[in-house]
Amino acid sequence: MCKKLPIPDEFIQELKARIIIEDVISSYVRLKKTGRNYMGLCPFHNEKTPSFSVSPENGFFHCFGCGVGGDAITFIRRIENLDYVEAVKLLAGRVGMTVPEDGRDDGMGRLKTRIYEANREAARFYHKQLYTPGGQQALDYLRKRQLSEKTIIHFGLGYSPASRFELVNHLKSKGFSGSEIISANLANQSKKGYPFDRFSDRIMFPIIDLRGNVIAFGGRIMSDIKPKYLNTSDTPVFNKSRNLFALQFAKNKANGQLILVEGYMDVIALHQAGFENAVATLGTALTNEQAMLIKRYCDEVVICYDADEAGQKATQRAIGILRPTGLRVKVLTVPNGKDPDEFIKSYGEQGSARFGMLLEKSGNDIEYRLNKLRSGFNLKSDEQRVEFLNRAAVLMSDIENPVERDIYAAKLSAELNVEKSAFLQIVQRNFRRKENKFKGEEQRRAANELSAVNDRMNTEKRFRLRAASAEEALIAVMILNPDVAIKVVRRVNPELFITSFNRRIYDVLSDRVKNNREITLADISGDFSVDEMNSITRIVISHTRENDPWAAAEKYILMLEDEAQRLTPEQIENSDPEALNEYIKNKLRKMKDKKQ
Ligand code: GTP
Ligand code: MN
Repeated sequence: MCKKLPIPDEFIQELKARIIIEDVISSYVRLKKTGRNYMGLCPFHNEKTPSFSVSPENGFFHCFGCGVGGDAITFIRRIENLDYVEAVKLLAGRVGMTVPEDGRDDGMGRLKTRIYEANREAARFYHKQLYTPGGQQALDYLRKRQLSEKTIIHFGLGYSPASRFELVNHLKSKGFSGSEIISANLANQSKKGYPFDRFSDRIMFPIIDLRGNVIAFGGRIMSDIKPKYLNTSDTPVFNKSRNLFALQFAKNKANGQLILVEGYMDVIALHQAGFENAVATLGTALTNEQAMLIKRYCDEVVICYDADEAGQKATQRAIGILRPTGLRVKVLTVPNGKDPDEFIKSYGEQGSARFGMLLEKSGNDIEYRLNKLRSGFNLKSDEQRVEFLNRAAVLMSDIENPVERDIYAAKLSAELNVEKSAFLQIVQRNFRRKENKFKGEEQRRAANELSAVNDRMNTEKRFRLRAASAEEALIAVMILNPDVAIKVVRRVNPELFITSFNRRIYDVLSDRVKNNREITLADISGDFSVDEMNSITRIVISHTRENDPWAAAEKYILMLEDEAQRLTPEQIENSDPEALNEYIKNKLRKMKDKKQ
C-alpha cells in the first residue's frame, strides 16, 4: 500500500542532487567534522555530548542517542514540524527550485524507461558491428591495442558505422520513435527535422550505471580527427558528473580501494591486467558528486593520472576534491610520461606485475599535505616551529601504519632538529585520541543495535527476531547496492517478508526498482512517516557494506525462505497432528540435504 507521491520523482532527484545535507542541518545544529561524518548536539533530545551524526556521503543523519534519523527532507519535516510536501517546498526554496504545481508526471518515467531500452539496443547493435565487414577495421584497431576478445565482450565495446543512418534505422525497426532516439542522444536532429546517428565511424564504449543500465556512450575516433572522443550529452538518464566509467565492475572489486585514471582505455587496460578496481571520469574533471560516489565504495583512492602537466594539474585538483570527503588519497605517478595503458603494454607479459609494484609504491597524500602545511610557517621562529610540529603531529595521526608514522617522524624531526622520540610521542597521543573516539562510536552503535530489539515501528520483530533481522539485512543490502536490488526484486516475492513493516519497506523498494527509480533514503522518504524513517535509517546504518553484496543477499533470502517454513506458536497450537508430522519430516529431509 504505497502512498502516491504528490511530487514528481524527477523533481526529487534534482532536489536531492542540489541539497547538501550538512548545509541544511547546520542551519539548526552546530556541526563539527569528525572523519567521514559531522557530529553535533542532537536537536531532538537533550544531551551534553554530541551523538548526532550527519553522513554527507550517504545523505542522512542519525542520532546514536535517541535513534532519530533520515534524509534531509525527513530532518526538515521533524524539526520544522512540516508534512512531506511542505518540507520539500522549503528545501526547494533554499536551492532556488520551485515545486511544480500539477503534481505527478508519469511521462518522464516512461521516457526514461524507453531511453534505457534504446541504449541497450544500441549497445547490442554497436557490438555486433565489430563482427561485420564494415567493423573489421575497428576490431583490428582494438586488437592492435591488445584488447583480448574477453575484454571486448566484458566491456561491451562496439563500432558505430560510418553511415549516419544505420543505428537510427535499426532502432526504428525495433519500434523506437525518432524523438525517443533523439532524447537518448543516440541521434541528432537535422535542420529538416529528421534524426541522424550521433556517433559515426567510432569505437564505442558503453557507459553503464550501478543498476546495469546502459546510460550513455563514449565514442573514440580511430584517426587524428578531432574531437578524439565524443560522449553522450546529458539526457534524462545520464549526467556525466554523477557517474564513473566502470564503477559497476570496480565497486565489487574495490576491497577498500579504487584507482582513478583519466581515460576509458586506461580503465580497460587496467581491468584486463587484473586491476578491476579502476574507474575514470566521463570526459570531464572530477566533480564533488563523483568524489561522494567513490567514497561510497572505498576508503582509499589512488589517483593515477597522466604524467603530463595537464595530468599533474588535474591530480592536484582531484586531491582537493577527494580529501575533504575523508578518503585516504594516494598518488601513483607513472614513469616516463606514459599513461597507465601505455605503461602496462610497454612491459608486455610483465605489465601487470610492474603496475602492481607502482601501486604498492604510490605515496599517500601525507607528504603532499605536510609540504603544504610547512609552507604556512616560518620555521626560523621557535614558536612557529613548535606550532608546525603540533599541527604536523595531528596530520600524521591519520597514518594507520606505525612503521610509516615512524618514517615520517624521523624525516621531520631530522629536518627540524628535534628529538624524534619526543615528536613521536605527540603523534602517538593524537593517534590514540582518534582511535578512542572511533571505539566510542562503535560501542554506541552496538548499543543502538541492541535497543532495536524493542523497535517500536516493527512490533512483530520481537517474536520473529531471526526473520526480521534477515529482512532488515536484505533491505540494507538493497539500499546500499541498487544493482543487487534489481536481482533481489526479480527473485523475492513480498510475501516472503514475515514482519509487515519490513514488507512495506520492501514493497516501496521493489516498486521503485521496477520503475527504474533510485532507492536511497531520500528517494523513499516520501513514502514513510518521520518515525518510520528513524527505523529505516537505523537499518541502513547498522549494516556495513558487504564485500560481495549479492552473495550476502542470497544468504538472507535463504534465511527468509527457511523462516517461512517455521510455524508460529499459534500455528503449532492449532495444527492437527498429521500436518505437524508432515512438517517435521520435511524439516528433517531439508537438514539432511544441507549436510550433503
Ligand atoms: P587513447 O588515446 O585511445 O589511449 O584514450 P585515452 O582513454 O587514454 O584518452 P586520453 O588520455 O587522451 O583522454 C582521457 C579521457 O579524456 C578520455 O578517456 C575521454 O573521456 C576524455 N577525452 C579525451 N579527448 C576528448 C575529447 O576530444 N572530447 C571529450 N569530450 N573528451 C575527451
Ligand atoms: Mn591513452
